[in-house]
Amino acid sequence: MRATLLGFLFAQALFLIAFTPRSNAYITAEEQIMLDWIKREGGEFKVTISRNAAGVRGIFTTQNVRKGELLILIPDHLVFSVPSVPAAEGAPLLLKELHTPCSRLGPYLRILPNESQVLTGYNFPEEYIRYLADDRLEAQVLRYFKQHSRSTFEGQNDDKMMMTIPEAIGRANISLPYYEYVVAMLSSRTFTLRKEALSMVPLLDLMNHDIRDINQLDSSLGSRGVRLSAGKDMLKGEEVTITYGDMRSDELLLYYGFLDTVTSPPRLLAVDHRNFKPNEFGDLVDQPLTGPEEDIRAEIARLQHILAKFENRLETLGPIPNTLPYLAGLLRELHDQRREAIHYELSRLQRLLEQHDGQAEL
Ligand SMILES: *[C@@H]1O[C@H](CO)[C@@H](O)[C@H](O)[C@H]1NC(C)=O
Ligand SMILES: *[C@@H]1O[C@H](CO)[C@@H](O)[C@H](O)[C@H]1NC(C)=O
Repeated sequence: MRATLLGFLFAQALFLIAFTPRSNAYITAEEQIMLDWIKREGGEFKVTISRNAAGVRGIFTTQNVRKGELLILIPDHLVFSVPSVPAAEGAPLLLKELHTPCSRLGPYLRILPNESQVLTGYNFPEEYIRYLADDRLEAQVLRYFKQHSRSTFEGQNDDKMMMTIPEAIGRANISLPYYEYVVAMLSSRTFTLRKEALSMVPLLDLMNHDIRDINQLDSSLGSRGVRLSAGKDMLKGEEVTITYGDMRSDELLLYYGFLDTVTSPPRLLAVDHRNFKPNEFGDLVDQPLTGPEEDIRAEIARLQHILAKFENRLETLGPIPNTLPYLAGLLRELHDQRREAIHYELSRLQRLLEQHDGQAEL
């Protein structure tokens, strides 16, 4: 009896959370047109487009959904794929689609974010790069992301490219910031459904990131398109998320333009990880260092050095300009997360050392 009642209260609490009016909740006319288009073309979905409490666009259930049930089916003919090459080299194909007046994907292309709504390392605004406040992060943006877009834009094409910019759009004159924006969209909105392709999938590309890998994508042969199934029972109005991968805040910022929010305990940034290789983001495993003692001492010294350099750098830079308040806020938050994670790891290592010392005394 007691369990039932608690269960009921818990369900009620979830209900209240799910139904607390989100002042930001709305769908635009163009988004509704896209949903209608998907339905006419044979798609299925139990979701709509809206905004979460933070005002970020996302997708939300329109009914209660059971674990395992189909949430979304997007037919294959509404998917846009390019070869799986670095985003800068694949972007002319997206550029071509964006410049095709009667693209089969029109209703989808019209709801893509505009230039000021996309942020990745590829289109990271110049004036803010130095506020990353770290040599390796700045190098990552300048020498990898931005350099890649620029060289492709300037026609230094390589053998990974299917198509150059003039081949894609003729004599049309586009600016570098616009090309960076197209590259940024391709890099941040594609799924790897097949080994050799990057795919943009209407509606599904509006799902926000949650590191807990809840809902499952399936695009296997015979699935008639790309399917998303519920990974748990969901109430009407819940946000539908997917994981973008096990990434740290600095990686998320440069690939997707936001930071990790599920950080307990706080995670070191990729650039602060002891296994980070310069100019490379990758799968860094959170395997806490436990010894031997000289390794712990070396790690403490390494982190203290990074922290001192970082604080010194911030001091020299002064306040972050507020030209782009969203980005300025993200950078401040990145600095806080970084500081907090290093402090957390330093105190963990200090405690370990004390334990080692204690054992030595016994
Ligand atoms: C992008 O869209 C937003 C919201 O619709 C709008 O406020 C902003 O002015 C647009 N920016 C550009 C550069 O078009
Ligand atoms: C392209 O645009 C740039 C910058 O707006 C301008 O300087 C250049 O003359 C244009 N080129 C052509 C071929 O229109």
